[in-house]
Amino acid sequence: MIRSIVVGSGSALPDRVVTNAELAKTVETSDEWIVQRTGIHQRYIANENETTASLGEAAARSALDDAGLTPDDIDFIILATSTPDNTFPASAVDIQNRLGMKHGAAFDLQAVCSGFVYAITTADAYIKAGLAKRVLVIGAETFSRLLDWEDRTTCVLFGDGAGAVILEGGEGVGLSNDRGVLTSHLRSDGSHKEKLYVDGGPSTTGTVGHLRMQGREVFKHAVAMITDVIEDAFEATGLDAGKIDWFIPHQANRRIIDASAKKLGIDPQKVVQTVHQHGNTSAASIPLAIAEARKDGRLKEGDLVLLEAMGGGFTWGAVLVRW
Ligand code: ACO
Repeated sequence: MIRSIVVGSGSALPDRVVTNAELAKTVETSDEWIVQRTGIHQRYIANENETTASLGEAAARSALDDAGLTPDDIDFIILATSTPDNTFPASAVDIQNRLGMKHGAAFDLQAVCSGFVYAITTADAYIKAGLAKRVLVIGAETFSRLLDWEDRTTCVLFGDGAGAVILEGGEGVGLSNDRGVLTSHLRSDGSHKEKLYVDGGPSTTGTVGHLRMQGREVFKHAVAMITDVIEDAFEATGLDAGKIDWFIPHQANRRIIDASAKKLGIDPQKVVQTVHQHGNTSAASIPLAIAEARKDGRLKEGDLVLLEAMGGGFTWGAVLVRW
């Protein structure tokens, strides 16, 4: 059977780091409050020349270098983002152009913080259906542009950045020791819209709007939804928490990550955490964490990796992939 194998990964961050102490100069907050509630110490914030497409392009180039490929080798680009440069065209098409590609196809996918898990699942389906051979999957966000910088309950949580992986079709035998995406499980439930949303949009206010969140409500649902969909992934493959080499969750909040790992019985040493450095970068957080674990040598070929995310919508999902 066809398996979608990860053959490269990369990332890009804005130049500017904003520490908790710096934020405390403009809103009533403290390093202590932010670290204790979220684990976040700093985040990267895009300057006016850095956009979702420019960060996405940089992450894409770093993934191509890592894979030893060129844009000619790619036939599809899927960009997971909720912060495109323009309402249209898709920023994926902008990235395609920046990479000098005239062939293939590119589109944006919007599932907020679950965007990367949705995009990997979509890329895997295209590859398995024979519609694509190599897909560049990017998660890129500039959430700083959606934040109400006077709202301390949200502005301290998010950051900007981009990450990318390249999936390539290869042969597998259909067993869980195959390399590649082994299983994907996506969920959504629109009845939770009011708990995390942006209060603007082209079809309503005609403005971009600001992120609004009922933090406690999100927290209350997050761990149950995440662990539920991961159990589905285990059931589909016959794998379990003890077999996971690396748990690479969406990086929203250290407490959500720790509580999910604990509930699933995943060894804390096997959890890749970058939330302390990056804050919540929405669809970019998982590929940023992947690139970090690859660069520092933790993540190796053959490792069993569990990806999961939950976010606005609500949307949530889990993917098991053998590197
Ligand atoms: N600095 C200082 N005080 C603050 C801040 C801040 N930045 N923000 C809120 N407070 C205050 C509140 O005003 C409140 O004060 P009060 O008691 O006088 O009214 C107090 O701190 C407690 O506020 P809560 O909202 O109850 O704090 P909580 O312990 O729930 O922590 C947090 C808030 C961190 C947002 C938490 O609810 C959370 O992590 N939720 C998950 C949200 C999340 O991660 N969303 C990301 C997007 S979704 C996803 O990616 C999974």
